[in-house]
Amino acid sequence: MSPCSFMTGILFGALLLVTPGDARAGQVASVSVAGAPLFDSEKFQLTDNDIAKLSQHQSALVKFGCDGTNKTTQPTRKCKVFPGDRQWPSQSAWSAFDDLLGGALIKTVPLAASCYSSWPQYDSAECERISSQWTDSYLHAADPASAMWPLFEGRTCLPTTNASASCTVGGYSSYAVNVSNVAQIQLAVNFARNADIRLVIKNTGHDFNGKSTGAGALGIWTHNLKDIEYYENYRGSGYQGPAVKMGAGVQAFEVYEKGQELGFTAVGGEGKTVGVTGGYVLGGGHSPMSSLYGLAADQVLALEVVLANGRFVTVTEESDPDLFWALRGGGGGTYGVVTSIISRVYPKVGVTVSTFNFSTGKDVSVETFWAGVRSYLKRFPTHADAGTYAYFWIMPTGPNAFTFLMNPFFAANHTVDEFNALVQPWYDDLHELGISFQPNSTYYDNFYDGWMAGFALETVASSTMMTSSRLFPRTNWDTPASLNATLNALRATITDGFALLAFNMKAELQEGFTSNSANPAWRQTLMHAITSTSWTNTTSDADIKVKMDGLTKAVGKWRAVCPDSGAYMSESDIQEPHFQQAFYGTNYDRLYRLKQRYDPTALFYAPTGVGSENWVVKSLAGLPDQNGRLCRV
Ligand SMILES: Cc1cc2nc3c(=O)[nH]c(=O)nc-3n(C[C@H](O)[C@H](O)[C@H](O)COP(=O)(O)OP(=O)(O)OC[C@H]3O[C@@H](n4cnc5c(N)ncnc54)[C@H](O)[C@@H]3O)c2cc1C
Ligand SMILES: *[C@@H]1O[C@H](CO)[C@@H](O)[C@H](O)[C@H]1NC(C)=O
Ligand SMILES: *[C@@H]1O[C@H](CO)[C@@H](O)[C@H](O)[C@H]1NC(C)=O
Ligand SMILES: *[C@@H]1O[C@H](CO)[C@@H](O)[C@H](O)[C@H]1NC(C)=O
Ligand SMILES: *[C@@H]1O[C@H](CO)[C@@H](O)[C@H](O)[C@H]1NC(C)=O
Ligand SMILES: *[C@@H]1O[C@H](CO)[C@@H](O)[C@H](O)[C@H]1NC(C)=O
Ligand SMILES: *[C@@H]1O[C@H](CO)[C@@H](O)[C@H](O)[C@H]1NC(C)=O
Ligand SMILES: *[C@@H]1O[C@H](CO)[C@@H](O)[C@H](O)[C@H]1NC(C)=O
Ligand SMILES: *[C@@H]1O[C@H](CO)[C@@H](O)[C@H](O)[C@H]1NC(C)=O
Repeated sequence: MSPCSFMTGILFGALLLVTPGDARAGQVASVSVAGAPLFDSEKFQLTDNDIAKLSQHQSALVKFGCDGTNKTTQPTRKCKVFPGDRQWPSQSAWSAFDDLLGGALIKTVPLAASCYSSWPQYDSAECERISSQWTDSYLHAADPASAMWPLFEGRTCLPTTNASASCTVGGYSSYAVNVSNVAQIQLAVNFARNADIRLVIKNTGHDFNGKSTGAGALGIWTHNLKDIEYYENYRGSGYQGPAVKMGAGVQAFEVYEKGQELGFTAVGGEGKTVGVTGGYVLGGGHSPMSSLYGLAADQVLALEVVLANGRFVTVTEESDPDLFWALRGGGGGTYGVVTSIISRVYPKVGVTVSTFNFSTGKDVSVETFWAGVRSYLKRFPTHADAGTYAYFWIMPTGPNAFTFLMNPFFAANHTVDEFNALVQPWYDDLHELGISFQPNSTYYDNFYDGWMAGFALETVASSTMMTSSRLFPRTNWDTPASLNATLNALRATITDGFALLAFNMKAELQEGFTSNSANPAWRQTLMHAITSTSWTNTTSDADIKVKMDGLTKAVGKWRAVCPDSGAYMSESDIQEPHFQQAFYGTNYDRLYRLKQRYDPTALFYAPTGVGSENWVVKSLAGLPDQNGRLCRV
């Protein structure tokens, strides 16, 4: 590694041409200590040699940083440099940067700019297309800066029919690098760090708290890193067996398609378009396979990562046990930019998928309805221990009216007969209570077909709702009294008008797996429960804040029945009280120390991320969104 004082300015004047496949610059050895070869995109790296060939002007933009132990220049600025500031990179600096990137820099045009006459992109046909697809996650994943929770961006450019309304870049990153190789990520990391501007990583934009947005940021857009390689007999990190190596942009449906083709089962999310290798796995990652195999983060055997100092490293239990621990569950956008991971995968498995519903009504009183729910809740330990994952909703549908929707029960490694035997005691109770329902239970001989049938493509990008959640531990099932307290807490919030979307599942660390930084609350969990609040598109910012606070308070009823547990950072309330305990539990102190070690200049920031308490976004709307300057507190 070069010392920090590297680049005192020997001028070679050579222009680094970062072009995928260009063998003249950046090509380095392709053997990785990860136990699998680097992808072509990863063989293309930025080295000290490349920097040495640059002009002084260029190298000042993209030189490497210090390593953590020998830092010489801790920035003292209160706020990250922001557009309009004197120190903001000049037009010529951006264009020199773009040259080094081989033309991969994209200046942000908000996705819905075509709806606004103040933008050169104004185009009513295009606006109509964007408006009609706005709730489709594919649309936002394919955009370099867009995110699926516009609330946390700042709602500065929503689709509209009023062409004279206002559209600004707002909380979207100012520029994004459309990454196709590691060298471009290193250049972007170095550029943002050297200019002291905000950096965000955007993969799909799914994050519930807007972690992939940030006003005045440079974005690293990983969506196009799509390589997938299957290893039938991978060896590494104390494991031998089937594994898959996935680039940072791979989405759930893509690895599942590969598994379908090659006969393996991966631990990925239920959401079709969620990025498997990004925020999902780095934040823990629950899966329809979790009750059998644990979290997605538990499966990771090796990662390739660009660190805050710009260096590209392979991270395994052997190469760097601290970082290996922190990356697997400690949250995305915190310790580095992951370019690929290698994860365990499993043999083909059959699954029974079942949907059904019941409601209050003529023959079902409110008390009877809740007795039916109680009978279900009671069986959570048995169902999770059988390896199943059930996604269910309980909705208030009117005064004293409720609907229960199984949506779906996903019973991996169960035939229909085995599934029916598992749920029979509950069904018997429902029949005895006089609750009628018609299960549609279908067997699929592989994960992919069951998952496709069971989980609909979810709609995204509503700007009139937000969520909160809680992980309920097994101890809540210890006694009839604790079970009743749990049920009463759920019932009270639902009766207050908050719909419940919950998972009955478990996510234990499997025997022989290396421990990681995933929220310890996950290991005890039998239910991950989510709820939400909503408003209308004419609600004022101040009233939205009131709604948000109301939600945080309402979930206090859930916290009260499991105060020592926590919540899942990736599907949570951005205002979660004492988020350090809730999202990271007893791991927080170690995660925080490692954050100081690997990212001493706080290049990476994500709301509710490790170390984020040292920063505040000066939101223009006074909401917890990313539309404002990022400053030290
Ligand atoms: C419809 C829907 C369904 C979902 N289903 C599930 C589910 O089944 N199970 C589950 O556990 N979660 C689920 N989630 C939550 C999901 O895990 C989070 O939204 C997660 O943050 C998404 O990661 P991403 O990379 O796709 O998204 P992004 O929003 O692009 O990124 C999220 C965060 O990860 C960071 N990040 C992204 N890529 C990298 C990288 N290469 N290196 C370092 N940091 C990176 C970003 O900086 C950001 O902080 C779902 C979310 C939605 C909206
Ligand atoms: C940090 O600097 C010291 C003294 O200059 C040197 O001995 C040490 O090797 C450096 N550490 C790293 C990690 O470069
Ligand atoms: C359109 O937006 C402009 C600017 O915000 C506003 O003055 C006007 O009232 C809006 N028109 C309609 C029909 O909402
Ligand atoms: C991003 O780069 C890829 C090549 O990796 C290219 O196919 C794609 O069109 C680019 N996308 C945008 C929006 O520029
Ligand atoms: C699947 O179920 C069978 C019993 O029916 C059991 O022997 C096997 O271990 C299970 N497989 C997994 C992966 O849990
Ligand atoms: C509820 O189940 C009935 C069959 O019992 C079905 O007709 C109906 O569509 C289901 N409702 C929902 C919302 O899934
Ligand atoms: C049962 O569910 C499957 C999808 O899992 C669907 O294709 C089928 O039409 C459903 N059958 C009934 C009777 O609703
Ligand atoms: C729990 O609730 C059930 C059903 O309402 C009730 O019959 C039982 O007595 C309660 N048990 C305790 C310990 O509160
Ligand atoms: C607000 O919502 C109403 C009703 O859903 C809709 O008709 C209107 O177009 C929306 N307005 C905007 C600006 O999105």
